[in-house]
Amino acid sequence: MVKVKFTPYNKEIDVLEGENLLEAIRKAGVFIDTPCNGSGSCGKCKVKITAGNVISEDSRHITEKEKRKDMCLPVSVRLKKIYQ
Ligand code: FES
Repeated sequence: MVKVKFTPYNKEIDVLEGENLLEAIRKAGVFIDTPCNGSGSCGKCKVKITAGNVISEDSRHITEKEKRKDMCLPVSVRLKKIYQ
């Protein structure tokens, strides 16, 4: 399991490793605007990863500057457990 914390909402949930971030957001009951329902075509659901271990696919909607600031499209992010 992977612990995901949504800091602005003070919510924390456990999800399966490999699950995508958009699924986790929905499970947590956190609202983000998803006009294309997470297909990756609109780029409106950008979020910032503040900590943790993820695998993120590139998207034409995320600029290099946004990438350096850890912005991503949740549908293109897979959550990974942190092994210590
Ligand atoms: S909802 Fe359209 S890319 Fe995320």
